[in-house]
Amino acid sequence: MDQNEMKRAVARAAVSYVPQGIIGVGTGSTANFFIDELARVKNRIDGAVASSEATAARLKSHGIRVLDLNDVGQMEVYVDGADEITRHLHMVKGGGGALTREKIVAACSKKFICVADLSKLVDVLGQFPLPVEVIPMARSYVARELVKLGGQPRLREGFTTDNGNVILDVVGLSILDPVALETQINQIVGVVTNGLFAHRAADVLLLGTPDGVQTLLPG
Ligand code: 5RP
Repeated sequence: MDQNEMKRAVARAAVSYVPQGIIGVGTGSTANFFIDELARVKNRIDGAVASSEATAARLKSHGIRVLDLNDVGQMEVYVDGADEITRHLHMVKGGGGALTREKIVAACSKKFICVADLSKLVDVLGQFPLPVEVIPMARSYVARELVKLGGQPRLREGFTTDNGNVILDVVGLSILDPVALETQINQIVGVVTNGLFAHRAADVLLLGTPDGVQTLLPG
């Protein structure tokens, strides 16, 4: 099984977690496979809340109704990928730049189902650059503060988030305490949010492996 086949397999497995009603949908290539699978059972749901403009467009292209989060209460399930995930189901997300909306939709969902291939499973987070969404005028200030935390921030060139902000990708962090670092970075003035999903970790990881899909619960 190659990487795309593993992504497709976990996307297919995630469909069994889709309840009736409204679900939250993430962003990225694995989430896209999930949207394509969701289209097959779209009559089961009333609609979806999208975590990005790109996801909204893909959902609509399949004829799936896209709802405004403010018109929806708590959702049962949110399905999304990750850039890195540990066996505690702490994640780094935001490789696609949608981290803030992803975190918001996840916060409004009872269960976070992470869909990922084996390459995303790590012992310690931080090999993948940590995305931090920043209000543009605070870019230099936030970068200096991130250096004080031991990271090397790099501006994601030519990229603006759906919220009109910039992304600093931070390399050089060995993230031994993701809960503490998530809080610490979010306290820097000018940070919208960072890509650590530790306070709100995943509840289930559907992990694509060459031997099939494994289901991991927080260890
Ligand atoms: C987008 C994300 C994605 O979930 C993450 O980048 C994983 O993407 P992919 O499934 O393409 O590997 O956080 O902001």
